[in-house]
Amino acid sequence: MTNFSKEQVTFKHKLNFVDAELDEIKQKNLYRKLRYGKAQGSHIIINGKKLLNLCSNDYLGIPSTKIQMKQLQSSSRLVSGNDESYKKLEEALAKHKSHQSSLIYPTGYMANLGAISTIVKKGDLVLSDELNHASIIESCKLTDSKISIYKHNDMEDLKKRLKQKAKNKFVITEGIFSMDGDLSSLKQITEISEKTNAVTIVDDAHGDFVIGKDGKGTPDYFKVVKKIDLYISSLSKGLGSFGGYITSQRNVVDLCVNKSKSFIYTSALPSFLVEYSFKRFQSNREIQKKKLEKNTKQLTEGLKEIGYEINSHSQIIPIIIGNEKRAMDFGRFLFDNGVYVQPIRYPTVPKNKARLRISVTAWLSTTDIEKSLEIFEKAYRKFYN
Ligand SMILES: Cc1ncc(COP(=O)(O)O)c(C=O)c1O
Repeated sequence: MTNFSKEQVTFKHKLNFVDAELDEIKQKNLYRKLRYGKAQGSHIIINGKKLLNLCSNDYLGIPSTKIQMKQLQSSSRLVSGNDESYKKLEEALAKHKSHQSSLIYPTGYMANLGAISTIVKKGDLVLSDELNHASIIESCKLTDSKISIYKHNDMEDLKKRLKQKAKNKFVITEGIFSMDGDLSSLKQITEISEKTNAVTIVDDAHGDFVIGKDGKGTPDYFKVVKKIDLYISSLSKGLGSFGGYITSQRNVVDLCVNKSKSFIYTSALPSFLVEYSFKRFQSNREIQKKKLEKNTKQLTEGLKEIGYEINSHSQIIPIIIGNEKRAMDFGRFLFDNGVYVQPIRYPTVPKNKARLRISVTAWLSTTDIEKSLEIFEKAYRKFYN
């Protein structure tokens, strides 16, 4: 048993109120626990058990890249942490997204927080899709604007809400929705934005490097690249590296350098990670992209053949279970049988819309997918019959 010092006991006592909240979370089957594991390409090892990893966001599965680790850290970018490698990568990203300029943040989450809170002001109106990611929701809360949540991908609702008066109007959507795997109605959104003079912002964390020509993302897929005013993404998904970034007009990036707190008041992303992203950006992504498309098709069709209702058209394939406990049981069954897919519950998704969020990667071989499908078939017999 742990022996607490007098100070620790006092501290523990003062925070006892936390237990009540934890108990409530547990009662609702919403308790989350960290699991330690080692992700290795197509597999992950957890407690010595080797499982097929069907919940990785390293979609392209670019083989590991050799980089030199020099000085790990210096300071924030505006002080002495602005390594030369940033210039190379930012220029490449801006060009890739056909924008004038780009800015790298330590994470995609921070890119959203930083950029949105910098350009949206008091008196403005923000139209945000109801399924937008937590980082977008939090970013909007940081502004003094009026926030209007439109029904998921519902263009009539968006149009209606855009009639409200405001100084500047912003429409924010994800490119590929992270928990549903469906694509935003980006073509219509850009048309509506154009008519109403609203700024279009896309968080394309899950579409970037994955869809569109040369992995240019959801705007390229819908041929609306020129109509996107601010593009926000992550380097930690398709590219399988680490970090976040924005691309936009030069003046927007300039203002973010000057005003966005999650850029200014934090240490620079270590340069070896920037170098790592750049090398992966330059690698033969096309081969990986094709493999990912093939794997997505094989898994999606296989699941549909078994009888699962699949509505996604991307590498993110949710199996909607509904009840939280049932989703946990489903996840546990898959785990016991050798497949790792984390059940996703409220508040990440709405209440009673718990799901198994499968994500396909190019790491998986045809045999890996066949094996996974056998286990999903077993699960179908157990949970649906
Ligand atoms: C839609 C979306 N935006 C932003 C982020 C945050 O990106 P990062 O993991 O780089 O912080 C995520 C990550 O899950 C996401 O799904």
